[in-house]
Amino acid sequence: MADVNGTDSRTGHWTVAGLPWDKLDPAKVNPDILKLIKAAALVEYNGDSYADYLCNVFADNAEFCQTARQWAVEEVQHGEALGAWAERVDPSWNFQAAVARFREGYKINIDVSQSVRGSRAGELVARCIVETGTSSYYTALADATEEPVLKQICRHIAADEFRHYKLFYDYLGEYLVKERLGKFGRLRVSLSRINETEDDELSFAYHAANNGDAPYHRETAFENYVRRAYSYYRPHHLDRMVAMVLKASGLKPQGWLHDFAARYAYKRMKKKAGEPLPA
Ligand SMILES: [Fe+2]
Ligand SMILES: [Fe+2]
Repeated sequence: MADVNGTDSRTGHWTVAGLPWDKLDPAKVNPDILKLIKAAALVEYNGDSYADYLCNVFADNAEFCQTARQWAVEEVQHGEALGAWAERVDPSWNFQAAVARFREGYKINIDVSQSVRGSRAGELVARCIVETGTSSYYTALADATEEPVLKQICRHIAADEFRHYKLFYDYLGEYLVKERLGKFGRLRVSLSRINETEDDELSFAYHAANNGDAPYHRETAFENYVRRAYSYYRPHHLDRMVAMVLKASGLKPQGWLHDFAARYAYKRMKKKAGEPLPA
């Protein structure tokens, strides 16, 4: 049951029905942001598959599995909210049809008993990196959009993603002790997961969300995606993102390494977005 603020009175969590839909203002929608939101809706909505994967990797930890299932409920809700928003702004777009196209072409291998990161601690580092990325991304989109309902959705999601980061980070402490993953191992997982951000999942989601049944051309979809997605980041978004990455990697979140990495990440993003570099 949603109260007047749109919060579920039992869980304390926001709901899709409780969003301020009466304030929706399609005239304020940036068409580039609309394309990104359609793609994001598909990736978020697939959260269930990742919970299946995590429950296989952490099969002996019932408490973690329960947490992962609840986490997936929230990720799926992110997809539902973004999908509902995009359908209202663009009634010609069908969320479930796009979900079907995405699932047809992109499959997560959930049939595993070991983490693809080599250890469960490594898996948790990778989860922290993903939540860092999504928290920063939705913050950047919330700051960029003028459309009030999307701003609210992105703020809710960014807060959830930050909480997810903390959740996986707390479990990481336990598994670092159990599995003795050192700093070098943590950093290796972080860097490899950051690199994968530019793998197929987001490019294909962008394609499935925006190009109907046209043939998939990875490079074009990737270019179309990053030119838009990276253009909304501002230096303070990168400052926060880099601090969270360093912390998950077992390094000091502030200091010269942070400043260097945040500047580097920002310049690289702006270059990929095709904007002039800052002076
Ligand atoms: Fe999410
Ligand atoms: Fe999340």
